[in-house]
Amino acid sequence: MRDKGGQWVEAQYESNAIGYVPTAASGFGPDTGIKPSEVRENAFIIYSGFQELGSPFKSVAVNMSFEITPRDSLIPASEKDAGTLQARFSLKGKTAIITGGGAGIGLAVAHGFAEFGANVALWYLKNDNTPKRAREIESFYGVRCIALKVDVRNAEEVQNSVERSVRDLNGRLDIVIANAGIPWVQGEIGSAQDPVGHYRDVMQTNVDGVFYTAMAASKHWYRQKQHGTDLDGRPLENFKLGSFIATASMSGSIVNIPQMQSVYNASKAAVIHLVRSLSVEWARYARANTVSPGYMLTEISNFVPQATHDIWQAKTPQGREGEPHELQGAYLYLASDAATYTTGADLVVDGGYCAP
Ligand SMILES: NC(=O)c1ccc[n+]([C@@H]2O[C@H](COP(=O)([O-])OP(=O)(O)OC[C@H]3O[C@@H](n4cnc5c(N)ncnc54)[C@H](O)[C@@H]3O)[C@@H](O)[C@H]2O)c1
Repeated sequence: MRDKGGQWVEAQYESNAIGYVPTAASGFGPDTGIKPSEVRENAFIIYSGFQELGSPFKSVAVNMSFEITPRDSLIPASEKDAGTLQARFSLKGKTAIITGGGAGIGLAVAHGFAEFGANVALWYLKNDNTPKRAREIESFYGVRCIALKVDVRNAEEVQNSVERSVRDLNGRLDIVIANAGIPWVQGEIGSAQDPVGHYRDVMQTNVDGVFYTAMAASKHWYRQKQHGTDLDGRPLENFKLGSFIATASMSGSIVNIPQMQSVYNASKAAVIHLVRSLSVEWARYARANTVSPGYMLTEISNFVPQATHDIWQAKTPQGREGEPHELQGAYLYLASDAATYTTGADLVVDGGYCAP
C-alpha cells in the first residue's frame, strides 16, 4: 500500500484491521504476504509496523490514515482479463528462437528472454562456443536452452531447424528473432574486390535469411491460432499471437557516413519493409516488428578502424556506441504480451543518431 506521502510501505496486519492490502500478485506493490480482504474506502487502519522499500524492517507502531484504492476501481474491465502489466511482460513457458544467437545482440536478447522465463533455441553458424553459452543460460535462469547450427541462407535447413527447435523445447512457438546478419566490408562498389559475390552473400544472409525464418515460423503460428494446440495436440496456454522480430538497422532508414555500405543499407531497408508487410499479412495470428539499432559494440564492426568508431561516436548525440544489453528491453517489449497491439513497427534504438 502507499502511505500518505505516496511511498510504498509493507505492513503487518492487526487482527482487527479491515482493509485492502495490495500484494505483488495483484500488481500493486511489494508482497505483504497478506491476502486482499474487505475493501473500504478511506478506512482508518492500525498497523503494527511498516517498512519503506529497500530499508531494513523497522519495528515501530504507527497509526496511519490513507486512501485505499482497490485495483479494480482503477482499471477498465478489459484490462482485468489481460492481467497485470508485470504478468504480460512475462515469457514464462514460452518458446523463442534467436538466429545469430551465439554472440552480440542475439546472445544479449537470449539472456533477457531467459530472465523473463522463456525457453530459448540459440541458432549459430560459426561461433562454436554457443552450446556452452546455452548450458550457462539453462543453469543460470532455470529454463531450457538449446544450441543449433543453422545457415540461414539455406531455406530447407531453416525449415528443419524451426521444427527441431519447437519439438526439442516444449512443442510450441511464441517468438522468433531473425537476427543473423553480416556487414558489407568491401567499401565503395567501384573498387570492391568481388562486389557481385559479396552482394549475394549480404543479401542472402540479411534478407533471404529473414524471409526463410519468417516463412517457417508463420506455419506454426497459423496452426496454433487455428487449433489452439501445441504439436502434441495439448491446449495451448497463454498464446495470443506469435511475435516475429527482425534485427534491421538504422541503416535501413538513413545512409551512414563515412563508411560506404550501400548494399548493407539496402538489405536492412528490405528487412524493414518485408516485416512491415508481413505484419498485415499475418495480422490475425502473429505480430511482426523490427528493431533498428544504431552503432552497437559487437564483433560485427571489429573490422572497422578506430578512427571510424570515433566519427560514429561524434555523430551520435549520446556520444557513444551502445551496449547489446541496452537493446534487451526493446526486444522484450515486442516479444511479450505487453505489445499485443504493436505490429508493423520499426523500433529505432540508436542513442539519438536519427533524431537530428
Ligand atoms: N552491431 C551493430 O552496430 C548493429 C547495428 C545495427 C544492426 N545490427 C544487426 O544486428 C544483427 C546482429 O549483429 P551483432 O551486432 O550482434 O553482430 P554479430 O556478428 O555478433 O552477430 C551476427 C550473427 O549472425 C551470425 N550469422 C552470420 N551469417 C549467418 C548465416 N549465414 N547463418 C546463420 N547465422 C549467421 C553470425 O555468426 C553472428 O553470430 C545483425 O543483423 C546486424 O546487421 C548490428
